[in-house]
Amino acid sequence: MPALVVAGAQWGDEGKGKLVDYLARQAHIVARYQGGHNAGHTVVINNEKFILHLIPSGILHEGKLCIIGNGVVIDPACLIEEMDALISRGISIGDNLLISKNAHLIMPYHMALESASESLMGSRKIGTTGRGIGPAYVDKMARRGIRLMDILDPGLFMERLKSNIERANRLLDALYGAAGFDPKEVFDRYMGYAERLKKHAGNAGEVIARALREGKNVLIEGAQGTLLDIDHGTYPYVTSSSASAGGACTGLGIGPTMITRAVGVIKAYTTRVGGGPFPTELDDELGEELRRKGGEYGATTGRPRRCGWLDIVSLAHSVRVNGFGGFALTKLDILDGLDTVKVCTAYSLDGQTVREFPADAATLERCRPVYEELPGWKQSTCGARKWEELPENARRYIRWIEERLGIGADMISTGQRRDELIVTRENFR
Ligand code: IMP
Repeated sequence: MPALVVAGAQWGDEGKGKLVDYLARQAHIVARYQGGHNAGHTVVINNEKFILHLIPSGILHEGKLCIIGNGVVIDPACLIEEMDALISRGISIGDNLLISKNAHLIMPYHMALESASESLMGSRKIGTTGRGIGPAYVDKMARRGIRLMDILDPGLFMERLKSNIERANRLLDALYGAAGFDPKEVFDRYMGYAERLKKHAGNAGEVIARALREGKNVLIEGAQGTLLDIDHGTYPYVTSSSASAGGACTGLGIGPTMITRAVGVIKAYTTRVGGGPFPTELDDELGEELRRKGGEYGATTGRPRRCGWLDIVSLAHSVRVNGFGGFALTKLDILDGLDTVKVCTAYSLDGQTVREFPADAATLERCRPVYEELPGWKQSTCGARKWEELPENARRYIRWIEERLGIGADMISTGQRRDELIVTRENFR
């Protein structure tokens, strides 16, 4: 009954999509447990690029059941658009997509509230993806959210919607002087979505538990990354969900004892999009070079990503928070050709050496990286499919990371394409 969680170890955009796509071959179920269409998981198959925002990457394989769990917040318009885009490219979507009835929906006023709040915060803004993710989770926690099951019951939906819109309109007007919404118009729109989505609605937790009892492989796909986790990330510069592996239990409705292993996805360098501290950020030509070579622009918003060196302090924090048993290293090829590669092993703060990841963003902001410099490699790692094909110094770089983190590299991705991958440990046997 292996249930494997694949979660990001940094600030998202680690390349989870490709690894989930690889692991999905041997999985029966692929499930998302948190976040929403703020995510953008890129998979390249035969030179064709797919960017998935809400639907698990397993959809690109025939015969896999893809689940959107209760912990995900869903913008139904975006979900339907994504479904249609896949269908138009020959991917069938029917019984292979199950959406938890308990999943909360993103409503139009969530986006309006987020954009108004961000503009009011000025330079302290979070730099969100503007998808209404935060306000949707706010309503969930405030126990007034609208779930998928609610739009399947028009009477109840209208009642909740009216009261939520009245509240949102007052807030928008009083706090931000922004225009409000008409309940009838939103109701009609969401009734159309309900019609389309109702056949996919079900009890996700029950389906996963049954599959595990039957000895099937369940692949659990995290979105964003541990450093964006609402509890364990660089708060307040985080997303509003539990992106680390722990979120998989509450976000799918399965117990912690059912999860057999968690694998962290680590990019060979670090990126971050949006505001917040980033000790190893490179504000120089090399940072620009990494961005250009690595195509570091948001898959969802197109924003340029901030780039920097690998940071062992934050990664060790991620390993602990997630209980990672192994990691997958991605984008190693982007470091090809450098004379040396720097890795941050500690922070310097007010003359002290800090090895523990600070809990608050303000302290992290003041931390300066302490680097160790490792020899680079001139040969290309691009497309390598065997460990032995990697240049010696690239292997040393990976071994060095393994030693520092105390876990092994299960997979090393050496390019965008599906088969540009070295697998040293099969997670589904
Ligand atoms: P939100 O999730 O849209 O509320 O954005 C909160 C923070 O998380 C911002 O800094 C976003 O840039 C960041 N973020 C959200 N989703 C992703 C993602 O999939 N990859 C990288 N950063 C993300």
